[in-house]
Amino acid sequence: MKNKILVTGGAGYIGSHTCIALHQAGYDIVIYDNLSNSSREAINRVSKLICAPIEFIEGDIRDSDALRQVFAEHQFIGVIHFAGLKAVGESVAKPLMYYNNNVSGTITLLEVMAEYKVKNFVFSSSATVYGDPEILPIDENSPRSCTNPYGQSKLVVEHVLEDLAVSDSNWNLITLRYFNPVGAHASGQIGEDPNDIPNNLMPYISQVAVGKLAKLSIFGNDYPTVDGTGVRDFIHVTDLAAGHVAALKYLEQQTSNIGFMPINLGSGTGSSVLELVTAFAEVTGQNIPYQFAERRAGDIASCYASADKAQSLLGWQAQLSITDMCQDTWRWQSMNPNGYKV
Ligand code: NAD
Ligand code: UFG
Repeated sequence: MKNKILVTGGAGYIGSHTCIALHQAGYDIVIYDNLSNSSREAINRVSKLICAPIEFIEGDIRDSDALRQVFAEHQFIGVIHFAGLKAVGESVAKPLMYYNNNVSGTITLLEVMAEYKVKNFVFSSSATVYGDPEILPIDENSPRSCTNPYGQSKLVVEHVLEDLAVSDSNWNLITLRYFNPVGAHASGQIGEDPNDIPNNLMPYISQVAVGKLAKLSIFGNDYPTVDGTGVRDFIHVTDLAAGHVAALKYLEQQTSNIGFMPINLGSGTGSSVLELVTAFAEVTGQNIPYQFAERRAGDIASCYASADKAQSLLGWQAQLSITDMCQDTWRWQSMNPNGYKV
């Protein structure tokens, strides 16, 4: 009762893993999700993994009345806000849908939180807010800019949070900027379940490995990187989940309010696309046919985090390796070739 957290988007990929970590850390959770990109089966499986029922409310973050009801019925100490749309290409085709969902939805949530005086907020931001970085590794003070509506929606929310912190010093607004989340729960029971053909690298590789897709296209082999392919900071979703628990613990320890606080969650190490493909093939023993293709519009050469702030402030650092990421992705994919669909 004293440590109840509202988890918006808790049925999704990162949210479901975080719910397990929250439960293990002794938090009481309520999931609020409209299931637009997730399923009840994910929640069922989380419930089985933690051997406890989960309170789930199907609802939309843009529905202020529904949110009011949730806040009236529960005494939350804070909100972890995962709910949002995340497909970059779709955001270019449907910008209004993205701004409505990600920006208006977040504002509605913050308004209801203010009404109920719940002012601890952990927001899912993204390394995408750094655009094409001038300096690597990227620290939290790096300049921000975005080139697509998805990224803009994250950046606009960050600005909203900054203004909110200035307007009212009672807010604690931790903004976690995730780098490239991959992997799955070690049980193989929950993982990433893209609706269509995946846009992101790791789910694409694993669907090639399981035979659902014929061949991976590697977008660009002429970047100024170790082997010409793009470099990213892959971070295991279980480490990411632990980062959220560390953020809440940090908030609980503070004696004064912290306002707006951005923190990178990344491993601090860059790996190339080709290195990830090679690691996946080695770890799983699966053949991953690939071809080099043109650079993908909007992609950058290299992106990896300085994870120093997370380490010094939260005492958090990534523990799991690329090998773990590949093993766990493969366990999930091979045990659930159709994701949560039976
Ligand atoms: P996901 O799509 O698996 O999870 C998002 C969840 O939010 C889904 O369960 C969806 O049904 C729910 N949702 C969407 N709109 C909603 C609404 N209006 N009301 C209620 N629920 C709603 O995505 P994820 O990968 O778990 O990402 C979680 C968050 O982290 C997102 O905000 C995303 O933008 C951010 N993020 C993700 C990545 C990544 O690569 N996965 C990287 C950086 C940031
Ligand atoms: N890639 C391929 N082939 C594919 C898919 C991706 O070569 O089929 C390459 C990309 O060109 C890029 C790298 O793999 O070089 C990683 O691409 P992803 O699409 O997996 O990830 P991005 O770095 O482009 O973006 C991801 C999320 C964004 C988020 C960003 C930072 O999709 O939402 O990480 O967190 F903002």
